[in-house]
Amino acid sequence: MNVIGIESSCDETSVAVISDGKLLANYVSSQEFHTNFGGVVPELSSRAHLKMVNSLFEKALTNSNITRDDIDVIAATAGPGLIGALLVGFTFAKGLAFSLNKPFVPVNHIEGHIYSPLLMENPPQFPYLSLVVSGGHTLLLIVKSETEIVKLGSTIDDAAGEAFDKVSKMIGLGYPGGPLIQQYAEKGDERKIPFPIAQTKKEYGYSFSGLKTAVLRYLQKEYEDINNIPENDLPDIAASFQFAAVKALTRNVIKALKNYDVKAISLAGGVAANQRLRDEMSDIAHRYRKQIVVPDMKYCGDNAAMIALRGMQVYNAGKTAPLNFTAFPSIPEDTFISP
Ligand code: KG4
Ligand code: ZN
Repeated sequence: MNVIGIESSCDETSVAVISDGKLLANYVSSQEFHTNFGGVVPELSSRAHLKMVNSLFEKALTNSNITRDDIDVIAATAGPGLIGALLVGFTFAKGLAFSLNKPFVPVNHIEGHIYSPLLMENPPQFPYLSLVVSGGHTLLLIVKSETEIVKLGSTIDDAAGEAFDKVSKMIGLGYPGGPLIQQYAEKGDERKIPFPIAQTKKEYGYSFSGLKTAVLRYLQKEYEDINNIPENDLPDIAASFQFAAVKALTRNVIKALKNYDVKAISLAGGVAANQRLRDEMSDIAHRYRKQIVVPDMKYCGDNAAMIALRGMQVYNAGKTAPLNFTAFPSIPEDTFISP
């Protein structure tokens, strides 16, 4: 069975092919130009998706050695994401399904991230604890099977990646903030500034807006002009922020491991690319004697491999959608299973 996956929810256009459960192609085109604007510009994103989607699709077929007639299932991200961006990949996928008369499977982007560790050679066993951290979401879940997810907690304000992006902007590093903060943090002392490690009233909840404000207050107190922070001070600020963010993320992981019997732990989403977070999660897994599966970098950021995989699972669970199914910009965070 050949499954095509298409992703266009934000600033990555991606097309993947999974054949009999094996990933044959995963092409990703990243819209680097948004860095000039300090964030993703929706209209420019949609146009760039439109420019790329067909050529990536052709390339994915050619390099998988299959033709259009070999396609059995077409899966595409339905949301959440930027609606104009989503509609490009989603409509392309529907057009394909219509012209080939093949089943169409809308995929929840977050579920793509949640199951992305299953793309790895040694996938996590069910049930696994999953920390999903991206620019738009911060979720702690128990993944019981391909059709059952239990949400433990989520953020009550900013997402983890959003906090990285905002703090990066605040200290003049640019966008996207995560990789830049990480790069500066490598040269800094993470214990230098005791930023708060937020706790919420809600069990397993997350909050990052207090941490962001604490960084701002610190800058206002220490510097006359916060737009001119000495370059030498940036590593300590970045490292101390990253430390507080990582500790806030992992504290609930430790709590969940004490309360739930899971076989493995996993980390997914764009922020899963953070080395400090990956190291901390590995330490925790080691301490609690759990298998840990963190996807390769190429499956942490947005990609179609995870959409094809999730599409295949949803199709196997017997769910397809009519072609009048529409994309959605947002979705309640506990509304799983796709779509
Ligand atoms: O999953 P993703 O590619 O897109 C969304 O679905 O949101 O995640 C993007 C987020 C951005 O906020 C970016 O700053 C963050 O992931 N990110 C990182 C790192 N690489 C990307 N955050 C921390 N450390 C990193 N190395
Ligand atoms: Zn994502």
